[in-house]
Formats: sequence, C-alpha cells, structure tokens
Amino acid sequence: MNPQELLILKRMKSAIDSGRVEDLCTSSLKVPIEEFTDISIFERELKTLFKKYLLPIAASDEIAKPGDFLCREVLGQSYILTRDKDKKVNIFRNVCKHRGAALLECETKGNQKAISCPYHAWTYDLSGKLIGVPEKSVGFPNFKESEHNLKPMPFRESAGYIWFCSEEVPSSFGALDLFAEEWKNYELASSVSHFQSQTLVNFNWKLGVNAFLEAYHFNSTHPGSVAPYYVNNRFVFDKYGENAKISLPMSSILEQFSKLSPEKWEFRKHVNLVYFIFPGSFIFVLPDHTTVLSFQPLGIDKTRVFADFRILPGPEKSERYWQKNIDLFKKALKEDFEISESIQRGLASTANRFFTLATFESPIQHFQNSLNTLRS
Ligand code: FES
Ligand SMILES: [Fe+2]
Repeated sequence: MNPQELLILKRMKSAIDSGRVEDLCTSSLKVPIEEFTDISIFERELKTLFKKYLLPIAASDEIAKPGDFLCREVLGQSYILTRDKDKKVNIFRNVCKHRGAALLECETKGNQKAISCPYHAWTYDLSGKLIGVPEKSVGFPNFKESEHNLKPMPFRESAGYIWFCSEEVPSSFGALDLFAEEWKNYELASSVSHFQSQTLVNFNWKLGVNAFLEAYHFNSTHPGSVAPYYVNNRFVFDKYGENAKISLPMSSILEQFSKLSPEKWEFRKHVNLVYFIFPGSFIFVLPDHTTVLSFQPLGIDKTRVFADFRILPGPEKSERYWQKNIDLFKKALKEDFEISESIQRGLASTANRFFTLATFESPIQHFQNSLNTLRS
C-alpha cells in the first residue's frame, strides 16, 4: 500500500467512525429541473462538452492485431477504428471521401488489409491511405490520391481504452494524465473484456452520471444486488479539476478497521475506486476487475450507456464466479436505470422546480458546479 492509499483509508475510517462524510460541501445545493428538460442547455452541453471532452470509444484489445478494425457509433456519429500494419491505432470518420457513403456498417468488426466503399469501391488501407479508385484514368484527370486520404482523428490510449474527442481540435487529454500512474499500478491496460453492452435509456445523461456520484442510495435502491457489499453513504471524495475520484469502502473493510492496526491494513481488497472522467465516463476499479461506463447523450431524455466488465490480471477464477459478478453488475445497472427513468418521467409532472442535493452528495455538487462553469 502506498502513502496515498493509506491516507485514503485513514480518511475513510474517520468517515465511518464519525458517522458522516467529510465536509467538502457546507450547504445543500438546489438544482433547477430545467437542467434535465431545457433543450437549449442540452444543446450547449453537446457543443461545449461532448464535442470537446474525452470519451472512451473502444477498448484497445478490441483491435489488438494489425489488420483489426471495427466501426462504432458515438453521439450519433459513426467512426472506424483500425490497427494498421505498423500496429498503430487510427480513428476515422466513417465517411467516404468520394461522395460520402458510409464505408462500414455500425458495429462491423474484422481483420483485413483494406476497407472498400460499398458505393463505387474506393479502397483505403488501414492507415487511411486511398489505395484504389476504379476507373481512375478514365474519369479523374490529374487525380491526387493524397488529397483524398481518410483523416485520422486525435486520440489517446489509457487504462486499456481508446479515448477520443469528436471535434478535431486539441482536447482535454490531461484528464487521463491525472490518473495515469494509478491506472498503471492497477494494471488496467492489461484488463480483458468479459462482458460488454450498449443500452438505450430514456433519461437525460446527467441523471445517469448523478447515480454514480453518490453512495446515498445503495441500501434503498440496491438491497438485492450490490448494497450488501458496500458501506452505505460513507466514502472519500477527491476532486481533480472537473474530474473526480471516489473511494468507496466495501463492507469487508469494517473488520479490518476494527481488528487491525493501520500498518496491517490492505487497500485494494476493500476499496472500490470510482474514477469520473468529465463529462460522462467512469472507470470503476475493484480488487479483481474493472468496469468502464460511459453516458452518451442522444437526446434530452435519451442516452446510450456503454458498459464494459473487464477482468484484471491475477489468479484464475471460475466462469461461475465471473458470471455471478456480471449478473450483479447488470442487476445494479438496471436498478439505477429504472430509477433514473422514473425521475425523467416525473420531471414532466412539474411536481418539482428544483432538486436538493445534500452536503454528502458533494461529488454531484462538484459536477453541477463544473457544468455551470464549463458549458457557458
Ligand atoms: S461514395 Fe465511396 S466510392 Fe463513391
Ligand atoms: Fe446505483
């Protein structure tokens, strides 16, 4: 255990012993319901947040070998990811340079040397270079292939994921640097996917984010799934700019705190680390696995949730063990999604003009304050 982890455990113990979360916020915060219903706020968020900040688009190992490619939709736009012959990752918009046809169907995957447009068969290698134009000498005088290559988009690989920004402007890669060292220690880049899902849900993306930025609801929302594994509503919260890290104590930590002196404490075994990458992505690090969760808005009350359950390097465990964990994860997600959909429906009733966030819902308060500052 490193000194930073020991410090987190000491803060965690004091939160549990004192029966309260650290006073990071001194007052409650009123959030107007327009946050989730006003289309002008939503459009501003798309423009100023989702097109400029990072999103995970695919796991690095989904395109592990030279020749691997896949097509994925993010925020309603389609992208091609490739691992070219030099093992380099490339991201391109899924749009042909001739007359704009989609080169691949969404979620197509495979391994080949080149991608050919289904319309007139212009062909690109996996680094985006145009390598074939049928009837070129007949119909395209003075044609320069180099002017028609697919343009690679900026991205960064971190924590075993490919992160990108859908606008071709320098994006906030710094968020990944903040946690790079910790993720390296936890071997996230060596994690392997065991279950992946994309779910369309009927709530505003921020309701989804809010559900993972507090531990107040565990006992009441998740009694039959994850609640027994956690200490309800006690955690350690650290801000990293608009990003955050929440260290959630698992129930097993209580025995450690009551019976062992700090030099014998263990960290990884008893803590679920929640890394929040603003605006809408999470990486959860548990003792033997990690999950990636990303909320991607499709409309003011429509969101696509991407989830990936990934096994970390360590002693081999049975398929039954993993399946039980995945079932728990899916059950908890379903419970959170159902509550969030009920909130979205309730917004239309005009029963509330605002929501009231407790002082211990401090990570949501921080999120809301970041939104107020960054989307203007
Ligand atoms: S649109 Fe792709 S080859 Fe014509
Ligand atoms: Fe939850």
